[in-house]
Amino acid sequence: MAGTEAGCKKQRWSLQGMTALVTGGTRGIGYATVEELATLGAVVHTCSRNQTELHERLQEWQSKGFKVSGSACDLSYRQQREKLMETVSTVFDGKLNILVNNAGTTVIKPCEGHNLEDYTTVMNTNVEAPYHLCQLAYPLLKASGNGSIVFISSVAGSMALPRLSAYSASKGAINQITKNLACEWAKDNIRTNTVSPWGVRTSITKRQTPLSLRNFSG
Ligand SMILES: NC(=O)c1ccc[n+]([C@@H]2O[C@H](COP(=O)([O-])OP(=O)(O)OC[C@H]3O[C@@H](n4cnc5c(N)ncnc54)[C@H](OP(=O)(O)O)[C@@H]3O)[C@@H](O)[C@H]2O)c1
Repeated sequence: MAGTEAGCKKQRWSLQGMTALVTGGTRGIGYATVEELATLGAVVHTCSRNQTELHERLQEWQSKGFKVSGSACDLSYRQQREKLMETVSTVFDGKLNILVNNAGTTVIKPCEGHNLEDYTTVMNTNVEAPYHLCQLAYPLLKASGNGSIVFISSVAGSMALPRLSAYSASKGAINQITKNLACEWAKDNIRTNTVSPWGVRTSITKRQTPLSLRNFSG
């Protein structure tokens, strides 16, 4: 009996035969997500801007026996997103089971201190890029017959945290996009969900968090 239960559990949590795209997989939450999906048997593609770091991660995963490939790209540019999805389509033969929209950025300043570049960078990276990636991935997710989109939002998307106005707005938008896509694409067997972490110690927190916000970063 115990053996059967263990077998069922293993089968239930197996991702053998599944394909996944995880954006921003070289560090932090994205890195952990790639490792988890690959450990469960998925074949994963990831991306980041830093080609050297990406190459190092890919070698590391290869040495662990994981099936992970990668593209160097800046998701804040439309053309680079299109190129990424063309690569994903080629690598996964036109079928994608899991899209994890993880890559994100933050600016921690009072509202009056945000300049146009701060606002545009946050919105491009955190809203426009994942929204567009969903559009580009839609035919691939549909073709898989069993699709899943996971956005990485933040608690900042549903409550007011200090000096995070643009970032919070971007994550609030993601929370709403999640609801819309969950309704629109359920008919295509594509589930859409959001994970909203509280503070997690990653490079985003080390880089940008002032001492006053060390207990919460993003
Ligand atoms: N850490 C937290 O406390 C926390 C809390 C709540 C929510 N979150 C959310 O969780 C997600 C991951 O955050 P994290 O803390 O793991 O961040 P992180 O440690 O800074 O990692 C971000 C990853 O995304 C990549 N990336 C960033 N901008 C990119 C772009 N324009 N194009 C392509 N790749 C890009 C980075 O690589 P490159 O820099 O080389 O491009 C890196 O691989 C974000 O959406 C963040 O908002 C984080």
